[in-house]
Amino acid sequence: MNVLLIGSGGREHALAWAMTASPLLEKLYCAPGNAGIAEQAECVALDIANHDAVIAFCRDNAVDFVVIGPEAPLVGGLGDALDEAGIAYFGPNAAAARLEGSKGFTKDLCAQFNIPTAAYGRFCDADAALAYLEGKPLPIVIKADGLAAGKGVVIATTTEEARAAVEACFAGAFGTAGAQVVIEEFLQGEEASFFALCDGTHALALASAQDHKRVGNGDTGPNTGGMGAYSPAPVMTAEMTRRTMDEIILPTVAAMRARGTPFRGVLFAGLMIAKDGPKLIEYNVRFGDPETQVLMMRLRSDILAALRATSNGTLGSIDLKWSDDTALTVVMAANGYPGTPEKGTQIKGLKAAARIDGVEIFHAGTRRDGEHILADGGRVLNVTARGTSVADAQAHAYAAIAKIDWPGGFCRTDIGWRAIARENERH
Ligand code: AMP
Ligand code: GLY
Repeated sequence: MNVLLIGSGGREHALAWAMTASPLLEKLYCAPGNAGIAEQAECVALDIANHDAVIAFCRDNAVDFVVIGPEAPLVGGLGDALDEAGIAYFGPNAAAARLEGSKGFTKDLCAQFNIPTAAYGRFCDADAALAYLEGKPLPIVIKADGLAAGKGVVIATTTEEARAAVEACFAGAFGTAGAQVVIEEFLQGEEASFFALCDGTHALALASAQDHKRVGNGDTGPNTGGMGAYSPAPVMTAEMTRRTMDEIILPTVAAMRARGTPFRGVLFAGLMIAKDGPKLIEYNVRFGDPETQVLMMRLRSDILAALRATSNGTLGSIDLKWSDDTALTVVMAANGYPGTPEKGTQIKGLKAAARIDGVEIFHAGTRRDGEHILADGGRVLNVTARGTSVADAQAHAYAAIAKIDWPGGFCRTDIGWRAIARENERH
């Protein structure tokens, strides 16, 4: 198969790396890609918002399958355009991508089909939203309905903060994404990321993972896209996985099918593992970043065959094997992230770092300038390692980081701390 991968992050580099091992793959293109992806794929400068240009590229280059990494093109209907052109792809069409594109849509679906999630209200105007806040327990969570690049969620600890978040949303702080607001109960528990491939009818659980969303050690400071992750997530026991499939994923697949908008692609459930079981915080309709990096390190089967099976309804015949190892990834970000990251600083020592046993370095935001690799984004590198335990994988990842010479960047030094504390308790 000739495959076109859409995206430029660490998630896409990990997918490119894993697809390269597939016997099905003939030629891999990536639009736009990055300096690391260029080792596995031919990077092409395509405007991915221009659906006609993507289709023309596929036709000119005999592309059989398009793998869409990020949510924006999915919510923007790239899948629908490919459907019309008769080109197969991985990911949901726009109607099914609403599971990520509209938080209110997903909350209503959960309410209708008894899928466990936080109690909520959904509002189109500030007065009704402010009235709903009266007398509600704190903290309380205010969310812009649409895509807000991870910035549309406020956990308010005072009523004033909650009112200000509602007013900011309706005043246009998130543009059209904030034209509707969801207000929901604050859930207690431990968060986990859960992934299941879906072909409209079947769902196949992938491995679990946990990420660290805050920028600072000890999970402090502002939220980010994710500063590191590990797989498996100790909190996702076999029983919790079974309950997540039975109570959340399978009812969602059935509900989307019943609505006439079957979901194909990967469902990424952000879960809160509460005392009484798993609850859905939100859905994403794409792979997680940096969770994908650790999933691909553990996958022992052909990812491309599995992705293709989501698009042609044959997922029921796919069986994926996972390594018993733990994988852990540490994100190296450019100074300034998650604010304005410094661009163009030079990164040295990548080859030496990659030589460490069990280490893969995925690029998240880099570009090549002659012989030099330069930072070109907020999250820049994902230093990823395998190990026999979280502590072992963590040691390999940080040993690799010690070889990387990049004064323009930083990382957290405690990725995996919660899981390592659990491992220590057990010994
Ligand atoms: P979201 O973009 O919906 O995933 O929210 C971003 C982050 O806010 C989540 O990863 C959680 O850490 C937190 N969060 C969102 N909703 C809730 C909730 N109802 N209760 C507790 N934390 C939440
Ligand atoms: N790591 C969280 C996300 O991909 O949204």
